[in-house]
Amino acid sequence: MRVGVLASGSGSNFQALVEALHREGSPATVCCLVCNVPGAKVLERAVKAGVEAVVLDHKTFASREAYDAQLAALLRARGVELVCLAGYMRLVSPALLQAFPGRVVNVHPALLPAFPGLHAPRQALAYGVALAGCTVHFVDEGTDTGPIIAQAAVPVLPDDDEARLTARIQQEEHRLFPAVVRALAMGEVTLEGRRVKRAAVIA
Ligand code: GAR
Repeated sequence: MRVGVLASGSGSNFQALVEALHREGSPATVCCLVCNVPGAKVLERAVKAGVEAVVLDHKTFASREAYDAQLAALLRARGVELVCLAGYMRLVSPALLQAFPGRVVNVHPALLPAFPGLHAPRQALAYGVALAGCTVHFVDEGTDTGPIIAQAAVPVLPDDDEARLTARIQQEEHRLFPAVVRALAMGEVTLEGRRVKRAAVIA
C-alpha cells in the first residue's frame, strides 16, 4: 500500500513510519511527504530517508478547499492509497476527505476524546490526569473527532513537565502509528458506523 504522509513540523512520526515500514516484505511504503511549512525539519528527514518531499505552502492558497484540492491531486498523482497525518497542524476539508474516503488517519498525543486540539500534553498536565497517551484515528471534518483505531496509555509521573510527558507519549506514537498502518494495509481494520473492528489487538 502506497502511503502519503502530511506533516508540519519536526517529523519524528514521519521518520518512525519510514523506519518501521521500509523493511523487506512490508505491506506498506511511504512514497511521499507533503509539508505545508517551508523549512520544517521533517523535510530534511525526508531527504535523508530518500522519500520524495513536496512543500505545499498553505499561505499561498486563497482557501482551505483550494489548498486541499491541490493536495488531493498531488497525492492521487503519486498513487497514494492511504494518507497519514503525522503532526499535520491543519484541519482537513471535504476536498481531501472525499478524495480518500476512509483513507485518512491521524495521530494525536492524547487519549481521545479527552484533550483534542492543540497542546494536548499541556492540557492533560493542567487537568491533572494520571494516565495520558496517544490515539490513532480516522479523520473526519472535526478536530480529532473521527473513529478511534488504536490507543496507547502512558503514566503521568509526579515530576513531569510538558517536555517529559510529550517525549513519553511520542515514544508510544512511534510504535503505534506504524502498527496501525500495517494493520490497515493488511485489511485488518474495518469501519462500522463510528466503531472500528480490528482483526487483532493493535498495541
Ligand atoms: C505529535 O506528537 C503528534 O501527535 C502531534 O504533533 C506531534 C508532531 O511531532 N499532533 C497533533 O497534536 C495533532 N493534533 P512530530 O512532528 O515529531 O511527528
